[in-house]
Formats: sequence, C-alpha cells, structure tokens
Amino acid sequence: MIQHNISLKPYNTFGIDVQAESFASVEGLEDLKTVLKTNYSNLLILGGGSNVLLTKNIEGLVVHVDFKGIEILEQNKTTTTVKVAAGENWHDFVLWTLGQNLGGLENLSLIPGNVGTAPIQNIGAYGAELKDVFLSCEALHLETLELETFSKADCKFGYRNSVFKSDIKGQYVITSVTFELTSSNHMIKTNYGAISNQLETMGVTRPTVQDVSKAVIAIRQSKLPDPKTIGNSGSFFKNPVVSSSKFKALQSQFPNLPHYAVSESEVKIPAGWLIETAGFKGKSFGQYGVHNNQALVLVNYGGASGQDILQLSVNIQKAIEAIFGISLEAEVNIL
Ligand code: FAD
Ligand code: EPU
Repeated sequence: MIQHNISLKPYNTFGIDVQAESFASVEGLEDLKTVLKTNYSNLLILGGGSNVLLTKNIEGLVVHVDFKGIEILEQNKTTTTVKVAAGENWHDFVLWTLGQNLGGLENLSLIPGNVGTAPIQNIGAYGAELKDVFLSCEALHLETLELETFSKADCKFGYRNSVFKSDIKGQYVITSVTFELTSSNHMIKTNYGAISNQLETMGVTRPTVQDVSKAVIAIRQSKLPDPKTIGNSGSFFKNPVVSSSKFKALQSQFPNLPHYAVSESEVKIPAGWLIETAGFKGKSFGQYGVHNNQALVLVNYGGASGQDILQLSVNIQKAIEAIFGISLEAEVNIL
C-alpha cells in the first residue's frame, strides 16, 4: 500500500516536481487507519493538490485521500441532505447536484480540488461560501484514530479560514462532508455583478441554478488559467482587510482603489489590483510568472521549482508592502 520515492507532480496543480519519501493513496477509513499506524517522521495529507505550493521534497509520508461515494441521507420537498466522501472531486459533485436539480452549490462551480478539503479554507466564490450549505463533517483524529463529527459552529468558518486551518491545524483528516441543499425554491444568487452581466450575455432572464452554474463557469474560464494547461493554485494571496482609517489614507493617494466594506471599521481590498498596480500583471520570468488575466494568480509555465514561485511571491509581498504599506498573506499552503 505504501510506495517510496514517488513524484508528486501529478498530485499538485502547480505541477511542481518534488518527491515524496513515502506515499499512500487511501480509499477508505480502514486503509487510512492502517497507514497512520505505521512509523512516519512527518505527515502530509493531500486531496486534489490545488491549494499547495511544494517547495521541497517531502520527507516522511504523503497520504492522498481518495475516498469515494455520494449518499442522500434525507430528502423532502424543501431540503436534501447529502453526505459526500472526502476524495470526490468538488466540481463533479457540484455537477451531480445540478443534475438532481438541487440548489446551493451553483455559485461554487468549477473550483478545483476535493470535497474533503472544501471546509479547510471555507471555499468561496461569486457571492457564496461553503459555510452557506455546510451541515457537518467527519474527521479522523491523527493520534487517537477516532472519528469525530464537527458541526458548522465547531468549524469556526471565516474568510478563507476554519478551525482546521487555525486552532487544530494538522490534527485531523476530514473523511466526509454533509451538505444541506435546497430541493425546490432555490435561492438564486446573482448579486455578484459579473454573474448578472454574464446571464444577460447568455440571454437568460429568469435564471435557474443550472444557468447560474453555466455563467460562473464562463466567467471563471475567461480569467483563471486551467491547471491542466498552466500550473497554478488559484489566488496565491488572500484579499487583505485593512482598517477604515488606513483605507482612507490610501484612497487619498490612489483614488481608484477598489474596495468592499466588511464591517463598519474594516475594508477589503482586492490583492489583484494591488499586484497589477505594482506592475506585476502578466510578467514572465521564464518558466514562471504572474497570470495575464488575473494578477492574483502565480503560474508555472512548465519546469519551475517551488522555490522559484515562492521567491516571486516574496518579491510581490515586498513590493506591495513598500508601495501600499499592506502585508499580503498567502492563501496557498506553502510546504
Ligand atoms: P489540497 O491542495 O490537496 O490541500 C489543501 C490543504 O488541505 C493542505 O494543507 C492539505 O494538507 C490539507 N488537506 C487536504 N485534504 C485534507 C483532508 N481530507 N483532511 C485534512 N486536511 C486536508 N479556492 C476558493 O476558495 N475559491 C476559488 O474560487 C478557488 N479557485 C481556484 C481556481 C484554481 C484554478 C485553482 C487551481 C484553485 C482555486 N482555489 C479556489 C483553491 C482550491 O481549489 C481550494 O482551496 C480547494 O478546496 C483545495 O482542495 P484540494 O483537495 O485540491 O486541496
Ligand atoms: N483586480 C485587478 N486586477 C487583476 C485582478 C483583479 O484590478 O488582475 C481587481 C478588480 O478590481 C476586480 C477585483 O480585483 O474587480 C476582484 O477580482 P475578481 O473578481 O477576479 O476576484 P478576486 O478578488 O481576485 C476572489 C477570490 C477567488 C474567487 C473570486 C470570485 C480570494 C483570495 N480570491 O478573487 O478565489 O474565485 O474572488 O469570487 O478571495 C481562490 O481562492 O483561489 C480564488 C480563485
């Protein structure tokens, strides 16, 4: 079951070629427990590998979570509860829900990665977040090997954050996620500007959940590089949140600074704008660079090392700090 000296290139969407000292792909709870009982110096859990930057060979054990299965637990006229195994591909699951005419995941179409990883950073896009439809998840404690259930409150979801990325980071493997979706009277969310424009282009006036999904897919395809063609991990940094007073000071210097209020005292600024304004958008440094259509996405054109991308990210952070006095925090997990 455990293999040695395995290239992780096929297992990360940045396409970085590093080796795992030991590697196991596990398809069920018993397999997972068996590999976790072996002696390992260091452990890395991997899903779809679409939110990691691998900067060195991984010493110890890499466990690729590949549990499959989708089960409807309960269904009535208004809601449907679905339990999904951690290794199911996120977008395939979204398409499955749309095929059943279930609502709630359409705005989260085409996000790469696996279902089991979605709670870790509370994936979000186009006016929706995982927490909106999340009921609970099951996770195996790495030391006790006990399966525990986490409610929505237990998960402490925030913007690109959860308890799994903070308080209990590295202590659990998520094995399944349970969702509460709508069976009818779907809540159509088109308040994210680009969606309504796209629906208009598509000639849709009374959108269904399937239409919203198609619109989101079209928008994403126009901006984000497909990892199958160009290596990347989506947004490399989080959008920074600054105090209103800091924002006002910046706005007097940069009158076009885009922004969104998050509370009475805080404002979110798109990191993509900061990076573009700093002159990095579309910059190529040979095998790697900053995407042409989205400055928040760092790309591997082929053959770059994790260290190359990491160095580029540090250079961007330094430039943004120097120009705007803002420190950008990585969204991608740097390993
Ligand atoms: P991985 O990269 O495999 O893992 C991410 C982290 O979780 C690692 O630290 C890993 O150790 C840990 N982990 C993985 N599986 C488990 C598990 N079962 N239990 C415990 N820990 C685990 N994200 C968004 O939120 N919104 C977007 O719009 C978005 N767009 C993207 C677009 C592109 C083109 C790409 C490449 C990425 C995008 N992402 C986006 C980021 C990414 O898709 C999500 O973060 C996704 O949830 C990562 O899933 P994964 O299975 O690939 O995680
Ligand atoms: N912008 C620029 N130049 C750029 C890119 C963006 O000026 O090159 C500015 C524009 O003002 C634009 C604004 O940034 O209006 C927002 O851009 P976009 O709608 O593309 O979204 P984003 O803030 O860059 C976030 C998420 C994405 C998610 C989209 C859509 C983060 C870190 N990123 O990106 O998530 O898909 O919104 O909701 O919050 C990811 O997490 O990997 C990811 C791709």
